[in-house]
Amino acid sequence: MTTLLQINTSINNGNGQSSQLARQFVAAYRKGHPDVQVRVRDVAAAEPVPHLDAERFSAFISKPEARKQYWQTRRNLSAQVLSARPNAAHLALAELERKNRLLGIVTQNFDGLHHDAGNNAEHIVEMHGTSRAAACTLCGKRSSMKELQQRIDAGEIDPLCPDCGGFLKAATILFGQRVPEAELTRARELTLSCDLFLVVGSSLKVTPAATLPRLALKNDVPLIIINLEPTPLDDYAEIVIREKAGVVLPQIVSGI
Ligand SMILES: NC(=O)c1ccc[n+]([C@@H]2O[C@H](COP(=O)([O-])OP(=O)(O)OC[C@H]3O[C@@H](n4cnc5c(N)ncnc54)[C@H](O)[C@@H]3O)[C@@H](O)[C@H]2O)c1
Ligand SMILES: [Zn+2]
Repeated sequence: MTTLLQINTSINNGNGQSSQLARQFVAAYRKGHPDVQVRVRDVAAAEPVPHLDAERFSAFISKPEARKQYWQTRRNLSAQVLSARPNAAHLALAELERKNRLLGIVTQNFDGLHHDAGNNAEHIVEMHGTSRAAACTLCGKRSSMKELQQRIDAGEIDPLCPDCGGFLKAATILFGQRVPEAELTRARELTLSCDLFLVVGSSLKVTPAATLPRLALKNDVPLIIINLEPTPLDDYAEIVIREKAGVVLPQIVSGI
């Protein structure tokens, strides 16, 4: 009889040492138990790819290289960002507002496309900030992203806040930064005062945004989920539509 022994290694020290240790263990074990089949499954290897330094707030603050990478990424993406236009789903939500049926939009996107689509800024909560404004990482003061980008494009390497000397970047949230309290409070207020909560294009895995539909459910607000993939709240939703938002939202809004 062959016994199957599975070892899950989950300590990832970045150099594969954990799986090496597991293999050594297996080799030692096999000597005494030649019939045992051993499978080493490196759990750590299945973990998501770590964030780039340019995406992590602590690295942005402490490493000049991370800031260089950050601005380089912005430069690489700038043509794509500038040409981005609201899609059919954005336009449908603007239409919903014109029909007086929209209390507000809470978004994790920072591209400003809901504004471009015609939704009133007062009705939009950008939980992860906006890439259309610049902000100081020390004093928080907002400034023009256009001017900051011009400074970078002209060769400035590490733009600093003229007021306090802190590092400047887009007014978005990097990993490790908290969603500002004002945005979170407003998002919760909207969630608690709406009578239907629509989730559009979210895996509902990233908090704090993902806590909002749960808050809605606790408040007996029905949930509709429009998402191409399953989400952890599908079983709790009144309706789940697995279709592209740009296809289904215009249909729903035109029927209201
Ligand atoms: N999570 C973050 O930290 C973060 C930061 C900035 C921006 N965002 C943006 O916020 C949005 C939601 O964030 P998330 O963390 O839930 O993202 P996610 O990538 O985990 O999930 C996005 C979900 O949208 C679905 N989807 C993709 N295209 C769709 C379409 N056309 N119609 C319907 N569903 C579609 C996918 O199946 C997926 O389940 C995304 O657009 C994301 O890019 C997220
Ligand atoms: Zn400052």
